[in-house]
Amino acid sequence: MSEYKFLININEVKKGTPRQVKMGLKKLTVYFNGEKYFVFDSHCPHARADLTKAKYDKNQVKCHWHGYIFNLENGEGKGNNFHLKLYKVKIEDDKIFIKEKKEEKEDLLLFPEVKFKGDKNDK
Ligand code: FES
Repeated sequence: MSEYKFLININEVKKGTPRQVKMGLKKLTVYFNGEKYFVFDSHCPHARADLTKAKYDKNQVKCHWHGYIFNLENGEGKGNNFHLKLYKVKIEDDKIFIKEKKEEKEDLLLFPEVKFKGDKNDK
């Protein structure tokens, strides 16, 4: 089970302006909508556009490449089957800490059961 890890100081994230932060090999985006901090993978789950350049409105982001919309509360795509990878956020002493969320849907998308015509197991 993963623990919360320090990401960035609160004063480095401006309201309404997404901020990209590298954590190891990952590029994450931190977004503060004035009420809540959201942290998620910077790459759009559709075709990997950099979501720090996307359009934000309250608790959703609209990718600037193909216009797909994602809910920042649950990562769900609006009218699409893609899912934004979110992180759990904890604020302590004006610092933002994050923890990986288990994304069941993402696992299903990464390893779908695929059958090919003519497969031995194809019936
Ligand atoms: S890359 Fe984001 S909607 Fe296509």
